[in-house]
Amino acid sequence: MKRTSTLLVTTVVGVSMALTACGSNSDSQSADGAGGGGGAGKVGVILPDTKSSVRWETKDRPALEEAFKNAGVEYTIQNAEGSADTMTTIADAMIADGVTVLAIVNLDSDSGASIQQKAASQGVKTIDYDRLTLGGSADVYVSFDNTIVGELQGQGLVDCLGGRPANVVFLNGSPTDNNATLFSGGAHSVVDATPSITIVGEQAVPDWDNDQAVTIFEQLYTAADGRVDGVYAANDGLAGSVISILEKNRRAGQVPVTGQDATVEGLQNILAGTQCMTVYKSATEEANALADVAIALANGEEPTTTATSRDDTGNRDVPSVLLTPKSITKDNINVVFDDGGQAKDEVCAGQFAQMCSAAGM
Ligand code: BGC
Repeated sequence: MKRTSTLLVTTVVGVSMALTACGSNSDSQSADGAGGGGGAGKVGVILPDTKSSVRWETKDRPALEEAFKNAGVEYTIQNAEGSADTMTTIADAMIADGVTVLAIVNLDSDSGASIQQKAASQGVKTIDYDRLTLGGSADVYVSFDNTIVGELQGQGLVDCLGGRPANVVFLNGSPTDNNATLFSGGAHSVVDATPSITIVGEQAVPDWDNDQAVTIFEQLYTAADGRVDGVYAANDGLAGSVISILEKNRRAGQVPVTGQDATVEGLQNILAGTQCMTVYKSATEEANALADVAIALANGEEPTTTATSRDDTGNRDVPSVLLTPKSITKDNINVVFDDGGQAKDEVCAGQFAQMCSAAGM
């Protein structure tokens, strides 16, 4: 703990202040010997941003804190606020502070790979958390099976369209996020094999930026003369952007839209009928998986992995823990509540109370 405070004062004072100014918080804690992690050294985690999805600060951070505390591992969690330079600066500071394991959610593969290379040269083990760094050198990749995420989204869209002939637009996630490629690929494998569906537009949204998504979707909608019957949106934030344009055109609720992350807003849109499905990925499961792998690496043990993930850029198969995502519609929204993924009280607040009772909750 002493070392941490010294570090914050001397080494990363710039970053720390910058992050405070942006409203982000860093979070550092020592928790000795309370579980299997005793003596495991310190784990650093760098989250990507606060805007591409609310999940990182509202779900991943608390789940990670809980996982490390339960394991009795010293940790520090910071957020790069969407800047690869900031992520690099934070990583340098964490390495200087003596982390033995560094986990990152990269903002793009190139910056992620440089961070990992530097870490490895200092004897620090690295983990790709949620996003695979192409051409990187992470010892392990911890995530969900992201191709399955995409397949669930594609199947969800097909089911919501109910077999009627349909023009569909694809709004993909950030081109720099390997997950976005996997999500889109998984969704295409289902949608492209459905003869009643015609794809009439497709674009990726830089940095998963919800504001740009509004403009991009409006252009795609206009280019298709408004003849859009369904939308693949890669996460709940992008779904919200799509729904705003559908509302403007008085089509919200008639055009099924997909999503991902089971956010409060996404679940509320599902209750309201403006979004057709989302994908639930338990933050607790992912955080616990990260903690297990981090502890093993810190102790010089072989982490337990369940799969490998192909990195064509680096021409290697990365040992991975890939968890199983769940498709959520109005019919099984309770799955998210029962698992503690969101609090029912929060989702079913205000105007949504009635919709929750109508949906049998
Ligand atoms: C994550 C999604 C998230 C998106 C935007 C992806 O890499 O897997 O859960 O919605 O990034 O942050």
